[in-house]
Amino acid sequence: MKGHMVIAIDGPAGSGKSTIAKLLAEKMDFTYINSGNLYRAITLGCLRAKIDISDSEKVIEFAKNIKISYQKDQVFLDGENVTPLLHTDEIDRNSSPLSAIVPVRRMVNDLIRSLAEGRNVVVEGRDMTTVVFPDTPYRFYLDASADSRAKRRFEQGVSNLSLQEIKTAILKRDEIDKNKPEGSLKIAQGVQYLDTSDLTIIQVYDKLISRVV
Ligand code: DC
Repeated sequence: MKGHMVIAIDGPAGSGKSTIAKLLAEKMDFTYINSGNLYRAITLGCLRAKIDISDSEKVIEFAKNIKISYQKDQVFLDGENVTPLLHTDEIDRNSSPLSAIVPVRRMVNDLIRSLAEGRNVVVEGRDMTTVVFPDTPYRFYLDASADSRAKRRFEQGVSNLSLQEIKTAILKRDEIDKNKPEGSLKIAQGVQYLDTSDLTIIQVYDKLISRVV
């Protein structure tokens, strides 16, 4: 293998990209980078500090002053491993508007690039195939219908919302994620597009692995 290899995966919330990216990284012995968890960690920090997410100046100031790091697949905020705390309904709701703040995106993207430097990585998020690694030959967009994404999230059993409420929340996040001034979720030209609505994890995994090895 020449140089290092970057496998970039984007897609909306609940498209299965985290599960697939993690599995792929494990099997290939690559570093797994979940970029959404970086936005989620900053969101958690802001919520704890009682910073209103819509106050972008305060959010930027906060993000500049915390130390965020990533080891294995765990995110640390000022040295504390916050990874188990990142998947709550409150963080789901607030991480989307936080991630629309351009200077925050730049900080997160710099961190991701430095984590990926010289390594074989699987990175996933919303703008990995468009902004952060647009030149890698291994770019995928995983999609799924809003119904199947809501059902998956509901079946994970981590949300206190009803199936219908989850679907509404997912559609709202899609709307924000697709309309950001920078790094918005879109299907880049040349990416390999896969609708996972009716596929199992193993089926999706098989399709991806056959295109990277
Ligand atoms: O993938 P996720 O649901 O854990 O991401 C949390 C939020 O962060 C989501 O609303 C979109 C945003 N995000 C982003 O804007 N860019 C990324 N590369 C990854 C996530």
